[in-house]
Amino acid sequence: MTEFVKLTYGDNEYELPVIVGSEGEKAIDISKLRSQTGLITLDTGYANTGSCTSNITFMDGEKGILRYRGIPVEQLAEHSSFKETSYLLINGKLPTQQELTNFSVLLNDNSLVHEDMRDFYEKFPRSSHPMGILSSMVNALRSFYPELQNLEEEINMTVTRLLSKIRTMAAMSYKISRGHRVVYPRADLTYCANFLNMMFDSPVKPYEIDEDVVKALNVFWILHADHEQNCSTSAVRLVGSARVTLYAAISAGIAALWGPLHGGANQAVIEMLSEIAANNSMAEIIKRAKDKSDPFRLMGFGHRVYKTFDPRMKIMKRMCDTLLQKLNITDPLLDVAMELEQIALKDDYFTDHNLYPNVDFYSGIVLRAIGIPTNMFTVMFAIGRLPGWIAQWKESQDDPNWKLCRPRQIYTGPQTTDYVPIEDR
Ligand code: SDX
Repeated sequence: MTEFVKLTYGDNEYELPVIVGSEGEKAIDISKLRSQTGLITLDTGYANTGSCTSNITFMDGEKGILRYRGIPVEQLAEHSSFKETSYLLINGKLPTQQELTNFSVLLNDNSLVHEDMRDFYEKFPRSSHPMGILSSMVNALRSFYPELQNLEEEINMTVTRLLSKIRTMAAMSYKISRGHRVVYPRADLTYCANFLNMMFDSPVKPYEIDEDVVKALNVFWILHADHEQNCSTSAVRLVGSARVTLYAAISAGIAALWGPLHGGANQAVIEMLSEIAANNSMAEIIKRAKDKSDPFRLMGFGHRVYKTFDPRMKIMKRMCDTLLQKLNITDPLLDVAMELEQIALKDDYFTDHNLYPNVDFYSGIVLRAIGIPTNMFTVMFAIGRLPGWIAQWKESQDDPNWKLCRPRQIYTGPQTTDYVPIEDR
């Protein structure tokens, strides 16, 4: 039976239906609020506003739960691969062996990028940030592969093409930025191993695939694969609601992810840890983070939804310890990160504000151990988040109730004002 909330406004009383999700979350359906009451709602930053219903990812911010299509991320990190998890997110179920084989063949067959795209990469200034390049070049894919229209098989081909090519595009921007020869994808390598080889293989030093590193990269990308209606996913859904191509919507998501408050935090965490290590400024950093007059935030801490430990951070930290031990690497920034975590979690400011380490706090240490340059950290996040963006975009496009996203506002500017000719000003 439908629940209702009662709203009393002026001399009138209104009933608004309550939507209940499969995990018991509840929302007031305000889709008829303005037509019934003349009122709209105001929720800066949308902290209290649901933009959609979704079957893809469930998060519980109080309990620190994250599930993709109902499967706990802990189980996927332990048993699945990034390719299989991508299939799960996009298609809503784990693939059979035949389906996974077919998916692998399509990913392999579509892993090259058009040779003419290299001219674009060559023309970017060498100091260009790889996230800006990636956002531009994903949008440019539309010019090289224009056939996405409405047919299901065309959309599936475009989805698979994008999932495959984003690795090649990311590695290409890295190689070209260093003036090195571009390494092509290989048919004999798995999704993650291919990316590592394209990044690090060289004519003078052939890259040796280390299965521990491949496993770590699979887990890294599984942990980043989706996160319900975060900033960049909301950008993909909103831009996609105008019925642009998938490439344009994903390009918008990449741009949103770049921000240091969002996906750019993984790069900002390493820069913060490096600054602490170089200047022994742990106390100063903590002090600045707590100073309300200072816009500085402790990078890698806090989350709009998680008010306890980010479940992904726990897995990332364990993987960090395992990988550094297997590779026999000691990273001084790991010691700084662990000390900073301990100090912050003993400080009432952070615990009172429910500020705990998030996915970005240790992820940079893992990427450093793999050999990824710091300015590519957020590109790594983008590659991981791509299947989630695609799944969310497809769900919105397939939703019969989906419409153009166009929020309202409360106007607080000047009331009617006459034009003043310039000679009278
Ligand atoms: C990601 O949404 C997602 O799911 C994102 C993500 C994903 O997978 O897509 O999980 C990936 O973006 C993780 C978050 C990465 N960003 C950072 O690590 C940057 C540092 N974190 C903060 O900027 C902040 O915690 C946010 C932006 C992540 C969330 O902030 P909110 O929810 O907007 O909260 P807020 O800024 O309103 O802060 C509430 C209070 C404030 O203090 P008061 O004014 O109430 O006294 O908490 C304080 C803030 O000053 N606060 C922090 C802080 N984060 C919040 N103080 C110091 N350091 C911080 N990191």
